[in-house]
Amino acid sequence: MVKNPGGFRGAGVNCTGRRLCRRTAENAHANEFGGVMEEDEMAQFRPFDMEGMPIEEQPMNWKDMVPAPYDKKAVDAYTRTRIILMNGIENNAVLTSHAIERMHPDPEVKKAMALMRRIDSQQQETINWLNPADQSIIETTLGYEQVAVDLTANLAKNEPDPYVKQTLDFALLEDFDHLYRYSCLYDYIEGGDPEAIVQGKTEVKPGRPTSIEHRHPFDSMRKHYDKDTADIKTKMNYITITAAEQQTMLYYRSHGFMYPDEIARQLYAEIAEIEEQHVTQYGLLGDPNETMLEKMAMMELNEAYLYYSCAQTESDPRIKGIWEKFMKMEVTHFSECARLIKKIEGRDIRDLVKADVIEPLVVFEQNKDYVNGVIDAQLDLAPNNMEFVRMRDLPDNWASFGYQRVMNAKGVPSEEIVGKAGPTLAERDQAENIRKVKQEMGRRVEKGMAAVPAR
Ligand SMILES: [Fe+2]
Ligand SMILES: [Fe+2]
Ligand SMILES: [Fe+2]
Ligand SMILES: [Fe+2]
Repeated sequence: MVKNPGGFRGAGVNCTGRRLCRRTAENAHANEFGGVMEEDEMAQFRPFDMEGMPIEEQPMNWKDMVPAPYDKKAVDAYTRTRIILMNGIENNAVLTSHAIERMHPDPEVKKAMALMRRIDSQQQETINWLNPADQSIIETTLGYEQVAVDLTANLAKNEPDPYVKQTLDFALLEDFDHLYRYSCLYDYIEGGDPEAIVQGKTEVKPGRPTSIEHRHPFDSMRKHYDKDTADIKTKMNYITITAAEQQTMLYYRSHGFMYPDEIARQLYAEIAEIEEQHVTQYGLLGDPNETMLEKMAMMELNEAYLYYSCAQTESDPRIKGIWEKFMKMEVTHFSECARLIKKIEGRDIRDLVKADVIEPLVVFEQNKDYVNGVIDAQLDLAPNNMEFVRMRDLPDNWASFGYQRVMNAKGVPSEEIVGKAGPTLAERDQAENIRKVKQEMGRRVEKGMAAVPAR
């Protein structure tokens, strides 16, 4: 079972955990098996060997729940992306827990869900409230797409399942393009330079053009991993990316109308629809045969794993303290799920996780070479019958040809915004590979429509 020795009194957010951060690892420590752990081992996430925090100590008072925001001019781009990611992770924990609460018949499960959910809810507020009021909607949006690019690339690089990796690479090029289209909007409505947000860590240029990303809902169907054979890293990546894309979708849905400008309103609606596609494709990667409790346990485990990951790389000591404290809370949530699975399903959590270590950690870092490699190799991929094929190999009756023709019939906001941006940004859309892939799609849409009898 998960160790949960407790004894943590809530207020302490210092680096007190035995394995919580590298700086405690300057000297090698004896572990409980009598072995000596070196520094590299110290940075491993070992879910069954982490300190938790008693759940009755986890509720926060209103003042502690709402921390001072970061300074948008001083914040590291990847501190902002960690905040955006973990806000999405917490929102997903709350939303999934609500769904389970409504479907699970056992009153004990409902009570346990309510207790953990209240903590996840408070964590969400703490994290999201780190964003400062003077960071505009479009600035935050650029942060969201930077998350999408550098998170997806990191997960794809370390994904053991080839199909899941391909699905990540596929959507990577689409979010990469969103970063560019929103950068044009930032230039247009606020005269902003996207480099102020991405800080040179992520490139701003077109990927698979948003105008050709629009697909019939049936073309978002994906195969799912097998719960019995999938690597724990695959399960973690699945939960992480689904939650991140869901948060992005929710953010665009709930903020896109706040701009008075017509093209801004339309662009948010257009890209929110792609995020809806992304949530659909990623959500389907999960094995529906996992029980509700198993899904809940994996989600809490993923929260702990990501907080641990964030704490290892966080450059802001105050925010690092939040990641470390919340990691302990999640260890206890995971432990509680393990207890419920044992009691209600008679299964041992170790038989589900099947690993003592989850690695590697999720890290925000530059992925320019990786992204450019995927652009070179996969710009013209498209999903058909749950596989990814070259556009030239799509059948003329591919459902998305017709869908795209309908959606793009009166003009496409993600194309129009380029014309509103300054020449430095606008000219990037003229790159040879980008023009070619748009032309090819245009040709196939026309041909596809000719193949379908008019209704
Ligand atoms: Fe949480
Ligand atoms: Fe996106
Ligand atoms: Fe996305
Ligand atoms: Fe949690």
